[in-house]
Parts: sequence; structure tokens; C-alpha cells
Amino acid sequence: MSKTYKIALLPGDGTGPEVLNEGIKVIKAAAKKTNVNFEFVNYDLGGERYKKTGEVLPDSVVEEFKKFDAMYLGAIGHPDVKPGILEKGILLRLRFELDQYINLRPVKLYEGVECPIKGKEPKDIDFIVVRENTEGLYVGSGGFMRKDTPNEVAIQESINTRFGVDRCLKYAFELTKKRNKDNKLTLCGKTNVLTYAFGLWERAFREMGAQKYPGIKLDYTHVDATCMWMIKNPEWFDVIVTDNLFGDIITDLAAMIQGGIGISAGGNINPEGVSMFEPMGGSAPKYTGQNVINPLAAISAGAMMLDTLGLNKEAKMIENAIEKVLASGQIKSMAAGRMGMGTTQVGDLIANSL
Ligand code: IPM
Ligand code: MN
Repeated sequence: MSKTYKIALLPGDGTGPEVLNEGIKVIKAAAKKTNVNFEFVNYDLGGERYKKTGEVLPDSVVEEFKKFDAMYLGAIGHPDVKPGILEKGILLRLRFELDQYINLRPVKLYEGVECPIKGKEPKDIDFIVVRENTEGLYVGSGGFMRKDTPNEVAIQESINTRFGVDRCLKYAFELTKKRNKDNKLTLCGKTNVLTYAFGLWERAFREMGAQKYPGIKLDYTHVDATCMWMIKNPEWFDVIVTDNLFGDIITDLAAMIQGGIGISAGGNINPEGVSMFEPMGGSAPKYTGQNVINPLAAISAGAMMLDTLGLNKEAKMIENAIEKVLASGQIKSMAAGRMGMGTTQVGDLIANSL
């Protein structure tokens, strides 16, 4: 008997369930072609459950997730729930507790997708951002003093451990080597101001590069300059490695140059454990239930999930189908409501092009 891959589904809020449905549709269609078996288990985490029961993420559910092969998420965020409760209580907590220490964001401009930068073509925009996903300013270290008084003090500290930085760098170096594109790894930091945090990052980066990866070119850019180069010369990038907050910021910029959040996918990866894949877009409450949201990011996240599970053939099949459909020009725009077709039709198109 062949293995059955167990996938936890977290459709979440707003348009999350709609885009996830299309991703599942495409995965099922690919699995049928190569006789792979999947078992999907649904989890109703998100704003509705929180409103009804007050539960954000029960401890027992976190434990259950550890028994899956992967997790597939739609979107988290509800207009009636104060910002932060669900994002921190579900998304960030899962990243931390499941030790998904890599946030992987491929940035690729497909043929047939409009790029907002004049003169840039698919050959110019094809890089991957490796974002550290469990440390930095996201750990919640700090606090208030004299809160709600005119003398209030707020402290938020960036935690960077040599262990955490090294494991992230190792992943990025290995990916650069495996990708074998320009064999260039760019560290994005701020060594001119954040001398402690990025002092550690840069020393670890240069040490690992010199000792273990002589074939990889080491490149460094400050985060502000990274934003500039990403618009001016995106073709310079192959793999970028950076900390949690800088990674969060530059990947939104990167999403725009590949055609928008409608098409950008991410993976929260624990190379030794359970990983979680998600479209980069939010829950888009105003488009909920209208069949107008773009499911390509979710479908693409599904392909990343299969690739990470070792189902490289199936992943490639989905990527090729996305590429083919986009190149055909049938989908008019990546923006919600302007695709010239519905969410479900986009899913059908990809599924039928496998
Ligand atoms: C992301 C998101 C999250 C983050 C939010 C929702 C907490 O912006 O995945 O990039 O900041 O990491
Ligand atoms: Mn973000």
C-alpha cells in the first residue's frame, strides 16, 4: 500500500475557505493522475469559532497538528475581532510551537502577468526570500512601563540566537545550492545601525559561507537598499535571507512586483517537522462569498506543500499548469473581481490543464 498523506486544513476566515477549496481541487486532480492518496481533516479555527466559543487555538489542537504530514491554511483575520488576537493566537502561535523556523516566499513573475515595474520581464523577477520565522522582533519580548500615562515606556526587543540564525542560514545556503541559478545568497540586514542583531547575522553568514559553501557568492544589502534594488534591479537577486520583521516587510514588496498578493504563496517550514502552507493574501472580508477572489496563491501554496512532502512530480505538474494558464492570457488580471472569471473557474482551468 502506498502512503496516505494526512493534511490538516485550516480554511479560516473570509475568502480563506474559497481559495483553499480551489487548492484542494487542484491537489486532488494531480493526485488522481499519479495515484497518490490524501486524507484531509478540516479544522474550524478562525474568527467565527472565536466569536461563538471564545476559543482561539486549543492546546489539544496544536498537539493534533504534530501528527499530520502538512497543514494547508486559507486566511486568518476577521473584521469583528480586534487585530492581533487571531493573527498572534493562531498563525504566530503555530509558527512558534511547531517550530516552523523558515518562512519561504518564492517570487516569480509569470508570463502573462502584468508587472508594475516598467521594462521588467519574467526573466528579471525570479528569486526566493528565506525569512527567519521564530525569532527577532516577533517573539514578543519587552513590555510597557507606566502604561496609559504621559510617561509611558514601551520596549520591544529583537531576539537573535546563534542557533536560530545558523539554522536559517543553513537552509538558505542549501536552497541556493540546490536551486543552482546564480549561486548567490544575499543577506538583507541593517548592519550600519542594528549592530548587535545584524552583527551576529553577518558574522554567522560569512563564517558559514567561507567554511561550508565556497561555491556560493556572498552578497549583503541593507534592508532599505534591498527595497530600492528590488524595484530597480530585481534580476540581481537569487536567494535572499533575512530576519523575521525585515522578511515580513520585503516580501509584501516582492509580492507586488510578481503581480500582487493574488498570486504570491508562502510556506512556514519546519524542515524536521510539520510545515504549514498559505496564500499571502488576507481574508479579504469585502470579497467573501462572491466567487471573485484569486485562488492562484492558494493553488501555488498547495504546489509548495507537495514539493516539501517530496511529491516533486505532482508539484511540478501544478506549477506547469499555472504557468501554462497564465501564459494563455485567459485570466485578465490577478486582482480580485477583475480576473474575467470566477474563483472556481480559475481552479477548474488549472485542474484541467494538469
Ligand atoms: C505574514 C503576515 C503575518 C506576519 C501577520 C498576519 C501576523 O503579515 O505572514 O507575513 O506578520 O508574519
Ligand atoms: Mn506579512
